[in-house]
Amino acid sequence: AENIAACFVEPIAGSTGCLVPPKGYLQRLRDICDAHGILLVFDEVICGFGRTGSAFAAQSFGVTPDLMAMAKGITNGAQPMGAVAVSERIHDTIMGAAADGAVEFFHGYTYSGHPAPCAAGLATLDIYKSEGLFERGAALSPYFLDALWSLKDVSVVSDIRGYGLLAAIDIHAAGAPGKRGHALQKQLFDNGLHVKATGDCVIIAPPLIAERQHIDAMVDCLQKTLAGI
Ligand SMILES: Cc1ncc(COP(=O)(O)O)c(C=O)c1O
Repeated sequence: AENIAACFVEPIAGSTGCLVPPKGYLQRLRDICDAHGILLVFDEVICGFGRTGSAFAAQSFGVTPDLMAMAKGITNGAQPMGAVAVSERIHDTIMGAAADGAVEFFHGYTYSGHPAPCAAGLATLDIYKSEGLFERGAALSPYFLDALWSLKDVSVVSDIRGYGLLAAIDIHAAGAPGKRGHALQKQLFDNGLHVKATGDCVIIAPPLIAERQHIDAMVDCLQKTLAGI
């Protein structure tokens, strides 16, 4: 363990097919990291900003990382922006090691602090708050997950996973791995539903402003399309 500086984890692995952690998994990681002086880093690029029913998955799962990476939802994806949050301890350690007057956390990217993404980020945060969008996502989640689970007996479906407003449906492969998943994505798109496919799995992440009728339309399209492939 003395050679390990940090453990990076997505609280729910997103693009690999919505892999919801087993109960207690993230807390166990936290405990192991603490026992060995390893930093725990959460990648909240997909999970952050309301996707899991709280502002961050760290809150949904009740586990606090030492560092947290954020992007996507920080500007509603409307402008390119990423951010890293660090614990007070890391901040103070780095600042304490700096020479007087030195700038420690600054990174000189070409577009660091670019005003357009910063404006988009501030506006997005205001809207999340004023429209109660995280609470809205949390309230819609049971309806969304129940609706998706209604597809569990469709013969081509092999697994359904979900949490908050993030879910994935695995289908039985046919031919080369991923071939059927790709065909399903194309068919869904032609039928009016755009999803991300990863292998023989489609990932569904409705916007926080979705209404029940949108969930119904999505599941109806999934049902019909899955039945036809
Ligand atoms: C979970 C996750 N982490 C990190 C990244 C990379 O983020 P960025 O493109 O903002 O560097 C992505 C990109 O899609 C992602 O999905």
